[in-house]
Amino acid sequence: MEILLLSAVCLQYLFPVQGSSDVRHVFVLKGEDVRLEVHKDVKLKEETDDFIWKSNRGTKILRYNLQSKTPLVVYKNSVQFSEENYSLILKNLQEADSGLYHAVVSGEEEDFVANYSVTVQERVSPAVLTVTSVSSSNLTESCNLTVTCRGQDSSVNSTFRCDNQTCSQEGGERSEVMTSTVPLYVYLLNGSIICNHSNQVSWSKNMTEIQPLCQLHPGPKPNPFNWYIIIIAGVVGALVVIGVFLGLHYQKKRKEYGKASSRDDHLQFGRTSLCTDPRSA
Ligand SMILES: *[C@@H]1O[C@H](CO)[C@@H](O)[C@H](O)[C@H]1NC(C)=O
Ligand SMILES: *[C@@H]1O[C@H](CO)[C@@H](O)[C@H](O)[C@H]1NC(C)=O
Ligand SMILES: *[C@@H]1O[C@H](CO)[C@@H](O)[C@H](O)[C@H]1NC(C)=O
Ligand SMILES: *[C@@H]1O[C@H](CO)[C@@H](O)[C@H](O)[C@H]1NC(C)=O
Repeated sequence: MEILLLSAVCLQYLFPVQGSSDVRHVFVLKGEDVRLEVHKDVKLKEETDDFIWKSNRGTKILRYNLQSKTPLVVYKNSVQFSEENYSLILKNLQEADSGLYHAVVSGEEEDFVANYSVTVQERVSPAVLTVTSVSSSNLTESCNLTVTCRGQDSSVNSTFRCDNQTCSQEGGERSEVMTSTVPLYVYLLNGSIICNHSNQVSWSKNMTEIQPLCQLHPGPKPNPFNWYIIIIAGVVGALVVIGVFLGLHYQKKRKEYGKASSRDDHLQFGRTSLCTDPRSA
């Protein structure tokens, strides 16, 4: 399980809105800060002009002019203003801070010099991938696997089919559902099923390897390495036993032979004496 921050802020797209300026859409992770910039050249007239940052429904955030040179902040949350380029940092944003923000040069007339639509989002909840069914057949060497990928407020089912070489996803390369805010994807990557969902500021994925689920040759297979050891040990043991047995047998035979030959000598000697006796007699 991993949740990665896409980016605390992503400037998405611009579209023209009725009025003086464009609206920039900004997505911010809850708890983070965002800097709102002014993208026009601003020249405040000393006597008359005020620079104002305001939010939804005209709520003022701060007022600044060259006479007082001190930004007057009228806002509950902490902000940081740059007197050089009039940018504004909104700190520790919460979902309730989502809305429109405007920078206005207010003199003889009001000039909107920046318009932002700020959306504060929470980090997406962790994606959850559940294997709902596995059926494998040794006969056809195939395996079917069904998963459910669950995101914030939606889920998608997907089926994967594997033979002994490859797996494929039923109905194309990836399944996806688009709900109002959070797209959900299920796809196959490098032998793993990945479930991913995201919003504009974060994403979360959950994955599972197919291989351990789709055992095409189930049942405990004896490890051939162990068998070799057992066979070799058996053979060696048998040879040792046979060797010892033969050795003892040979020794015994030798002893018996030794006794027998000394008896022979004696007999021969006897015979010789017997033979010589008659000659000498
Ligand atoms: C405005 O000023 C702030 C702080 O001085 C700086 O960080 C920011 O990059 C500036 N923005 C622009 C557009 O120059
Ligand atoms: C997998 O699904 C296909 C198509 O529905 C079917 O032909 C095949 O027998 C299934 N395989 C297993 C192992 O269930
Ligand atoms: C695929 O998986 C293998 C082994 O799990 C790994 O070594 C390899 O780097 C992976 N490739 C990609 C593109 O993720
Ligand atoms: C998940 O989705 C987001 C947004 O669609 C994408 O940026 C990210 O790379 C995806 N992550 C993975 C692991 O596919």
